[in-house]
Amino acid sequence: MSKILTGDRPTGKLHLGHYVGSLRNRVLLQDQYQQTILIADSQALTDNIQNPEKIKNNIIEVAKDYLACGIDPSKTTICLQSKLSAIYELTILYLNLVTVSRLERNPTIRDEIKSRNFGRDIPAGFLIYPVAQAADITAFNATLVPVGEDQLPLIEQANEIVKKLNNISNKPILLEIEALLSNVPRLPSIDGKGKMSKSAGNTITFSSTSDEIKKSVNMMYTDPEHLKVSDPGKIEGNVVFSYLDAFDPDIDEVSNLKEIYKKGGLGDSVLKKRLVNILEETISPIRHKRLLLDRQESYVIEIIKHGTNKADEETKNNLYKIKKAFGFFEF
Ligand code: TRP
Repeated sequence: MSKILTGDRPTGKLHLGHYVGSLRNRVLLQDQYQQTILIADSQALTDNIQNPEKIKNNIIEVAKDYLACGIDPSKTTICLQSKLSAIYELTILYLNLVTVSRLERNPTIRDEIKSRNFGRDIPAGFLIYPVAQAADITAFNATLVPVGEDQLPLIEQANEIVKKLNNISNKPILLEIEALLSNVPRLPSIDGKGKMSKSAGNTITFSSTSDEIKKSVNMMYTDPEHLKVSDPGKIEGNVVFSYLDAFDPDIDEVSNLKEIYKKGGLGDSVLKKRLVNILEETISPIRHKRLLLDRQESYVIEIIKHGTNKADEETKNNLYKIKKAFGFFEF
């Protein structure tokens, strides 16, 4: 049975971007595959060393998001990365299989260095986190990784590590990894200016109230030149249509609405009302489950603990096999 491994940095509650990018897929795939989800607190530290409290406080919040969205702990292992020592060991070993310049050329890393304003002061742990992520995946012998498209360069780099080790050891020790992309493009932020991020205050989380959903949808960027209902409107860059594409189950109706909007004759307020209803329908059952989990923190902790123990055993077994491929002295 193919294994799935994914993860999220616990730097805040998860939002609809996570849902569309990979969480929705993970919920669907957990019946067919053996799935593990890593709460990547150790990776989160690589760009948050000044604020470890934030990471600590969001571990349980992220676990609640998983459970509320439909991740079933009897099918999916939810575990805490920082407790898995095999991943740290593998990371150090894999560092010998990459070069600094290759890491500096990784497009995801380049983008993140820019957006975090590191300049020349890049934390070394941050620069090498693609190697740690290769360790995350291979420690579980996973071959499928449901991710958003921003993660593709990380999968590519992980596969280079896989090939290199197999080459050096002359044995197929590690399995090639495949990214499982969402069929919907990445959700833009509410203002249409970039990625959703909690710090920019432009996300919709699973705890958002009906009023907050309404407020966010009303703030969504549409087409600034679409002033009168009768004016023709633009679909590209129109945040409301991006969200309808991602969430509206009636695909034919959305393409119909797009045609009318382009010609002129459809007001933003009609579209926004439709989107508010759809988002409310998606989020309200999740919000409800999440509120119940707020009162069951010890249950949530128990799930993480149980999953982490299981993952620890699994990754230690794999580490033992992988380490052999490096040709260390045995006694
Ligand atoms: N890099 C991912 C993110 O920023 C989190 C992550 C950590 C991950 N380890 C992983 C994703 C392994 C997929 C596989 O959200």
